[in-house]
Amino acid sequence: MSETHSRRTDGSTAETDRPGDDLPPGPRGLPLLGSTLSIARDPLGFAESVREYGDVVAYEAFGTEFAAVFDPDIVETVLVSRADEFRKGEFEIGFGELIAPDGVAFTEGERWRRQRQLLQSSFTPDRIRSYADDMVAEAAALVDDWDDGEWVDLSQALSRYTLRVLVRTLFDRSLDDDHAVTVRRATEALSAYASPQQFAVQSVLPSWLSTPTEREYEATMADLEALVDDLVADRRGRDGVTDAATDDLLSVLARAEYPDGSPLSPDEVRDQLVTFLFAGHETTATALTFACWLLAGSPAIRADLEHELETVLGDREPAFADLPALEYTEAVAREAMRLYPPVMALYREPVEATTLGGYHVPGGTTLQLSVYGIQRDERWWPEPTAFRPERWLTDGDESPTLAMDADRPEYAYFPFGGGPRHCLGMRFAMTELTLALATIAPRVEFDRGTERLEPTVEITLDPGEIAVRVRKR
Ligand code: HEM
Repeated sequence: MSETHSRRTDGSTAETDRPGDDLPPGPRGLPLLGSTLSIARDPLGFAESVREYGDVVAYEAFGTEFAAVFDPDIVETVLVSRADEFRKGEFEIGFGELIAPDGVAFTEGERWRRQRQLLQSSFTPDRIRSYADDMVAEAAALVDDWDDGEWVDLSQALSRYTLRVLVRTLFDRSLDDDHAVTVRRATEALSAYASPQQFAVQSVLPSWLSTPTEREYEATMADLEALVDDLVADRRGRDGVTDAATDDLLSVLARAEYPDGSPLSPDEVRDQLVTFLFAGHETTATALTFACWLLAGSPAIRADLEHELETVLGDREPAFADLPALEYTEAVAREAMRLYPPVMALYREPVEATTLGGYHVPGGTTLQLSVYGIQRDERWWPEPTAFRPERWLTDGDESPTLAMDADRPEYAYFPFGGGPRHCLGMRFAMTELTLALATIAPRVEFDRGTERLEPTVEITLDPGEIAVRVRKR
């Protein structure tokens, strides 16, 4: 482990006895580069190694001062109880500039509040119920298309699945192949462009010099923006000529007005749609991929899952009304996201200098709330690397019920964030994950092609190619 020290704003190290005066300890890193190279070489390894310094760890990388947080109570403070004192901040907004600066995931203040209110209408329990049959039908179509003995790449297949669901439910259209290719290319180019390795390259290059990765990203984003502009124009035309306008997300945005009657600007509409295409498809695909991969290596858990599905569903397809009874199925999804959270960390910046966990945190510091670190911490999760869905089931009077252990801090698990900016699609995602597992598991089993899993840190925790052989049941 590198030397522990308390850093002062002038760069010197010092100790004081007053709580809140010391900067958090952390790795010193290299002059100028800080820990940039260590992160670029092995982001997951770096995330593991800094935990040794404590619950708040300062380090420098990509020209930014970070403070990584591994304490669930501090996460709760930042996201919920003192949420007003923290904003998304420069690091996250810089990232937003790449994707959709006017989209709900990156705006702040009153603008964000208005956007969130508008978009909420597509995620009410009634709306989610109306999406459930499409989630099941797309999962059944995906699996029924496979042959017994066929090898498939789970990540690719499930990413196509979640994209089809998103477009069918929120945009009320089926996904044509050209559109799928455009979204896929943009997602892959974004992943490459926003990887720690690329951040490292960008942080040492002059800003006027563009890299091939950057140029590829810009080209694919231009195609994606043209695609969503077409979808909106098409929908405005369709709603204009029909009496009964549809009320999916695309129509809500195409028709939306501010209180003064003005429509959303084309940039705003486009950025919301791009936000949803990115936020809503790769995340859920990642969770489903890890869940299927973990099940393939755990016959006893798979048997318990099958037992629940047979008991609740018999021979029929799952439906929205079955969700409360599919507790073990949901526990599988939750446990997969505990071990492999699609969003590994959340980023915030204190509006002004503050104290967290007894340490001084200067304004402008980027807080990295470590979802991955906290959800694998043995203080909250005994045998943290074991896949054990039953952690989520507490013994009820008659049968086990799904619940968070009361002794565990609430923010020991936060794959969807928390507080006012928690994931807008959380209910959508949990419904999709549970129904997809309940549709896929009775139809097929998977044999792993390899026991080695080498996820990489990109925009989401990327499982990489996962080859499995399909066994039809
Ligand atoms: C397993 C799947 C998913 C995971 C793990 C996930 C995770 C997250 C997390 C952690 C945040 C909070 C980020 C922060 O506070 O900085 C977030 C925000 C968001 N998510 Fe998700 N998400 C998932 C699925 C979805 C889906 C399906 C949609 C939409 C269809 C969606 C739309 C959004 C939006 C719009 C935001 C921004 C909310 C705001 O800032 O007000 N997500 N998501």
